[in-house]
Amino acid sequence: MDLNLEAVSKITVPHILDRKLRSAKITCLTAYDYPTARLVDEAGIDIILVGDSLAQVVLGYDSTLPVTVDEMLHHLRAARRATRRALLVADLPYGAYHLGETEALRASVRFVKEGGAEAVKLEGGRKRSAIIRRLVEAEIPVMGHIGLTPQSVHAMGGYRVQGKSFESATDLVADAQAVEDAGAFALVLEGIPRELAAIITERLRIPTIGIGAGPGCDGQVLVLHDLVGLSFQPPAKFVRPYANLAGTLREALARFRDDVQAGRYPDDRESYHWPASLREQFEKVRI
Ligand code: KIV
Repeated sequence: MDLNLEAVSKITVPHILDRKLRSAKITCLTAYDYPTARLVDEAGIDIILVGDSLAQVVLGYDSTLPVTVDEMLHHLRAARRATRRALLVADLPYGAYHLGETEALRASVRFVKEGGAEAVKLEGGRKRSAIIRRLVEAEIPVMGHIGLTPQSVHAMGGYRVQGKSFESATDLVADAQAVEDAGAFALVLEGIPRELAAIITERLRIPTIGIGAGPGCDGQVLVLHDLVGLSFQPPAKFVRPYANLAGTLREALARFRDDVQAGRYPDDRESYHWPASLREQFEKVRI
């Protein structure tokens, strides 16, 4: 089978695996609605992740923990309608796979059947092996996620870089191997030192996709709103802001407000017009 990536019109799981063999970098961004998913897809990004970061970025929660399967599904459907080429991956939110394998399968099947997801992502290493196996057996491709896993914020005592001691680094190597052995097709490495990410990347056959894990990963993922400067938190160390959309929006909103208040908007070109005959008719009857 020819998996030449430049020629494909649709990215699939085999294409993502093939990237590792070709040493071709994988691009991944979050998107949670039709316009952003459409722009990301049209930009040729390989993977669109409907991440549970939507809890913070779009829904205004303090952490990712409150977002529900139904809320994720609502956003997933919108992203689905916009996505043509990218692989569409849906994040299993906190609670969707912590009650057991059957719950995990139920939520994942909903994401596939009702939301059009092509894969699901979940956080955790060795302790998620059985769940990953169960989903893979049910024909649902799984993306793993280890390191700084935001759903473990309380257990970690905050959002802290992981793998900074020999012990925690070897734990993460074992977690990465377990995720691969369980059948995942890719692994997100978040918030770990670049040296550790490079070692994990070298040892695995599946691609690693880094966020705050340095340049040695097989691909990179960012939260779209961080990348375009549309979040209200100071950006993390690893974020490179490629645009300042919040600034652009603020300026546009202020101009609209000023124009309306000063009577400059709408002008004649921005208004619909009667034909002259209708105006005359109205003037005659004076209603
Ligand atoms: O939810 C999310 O956006 C994620 C990425 C940060 C990988 O899990």
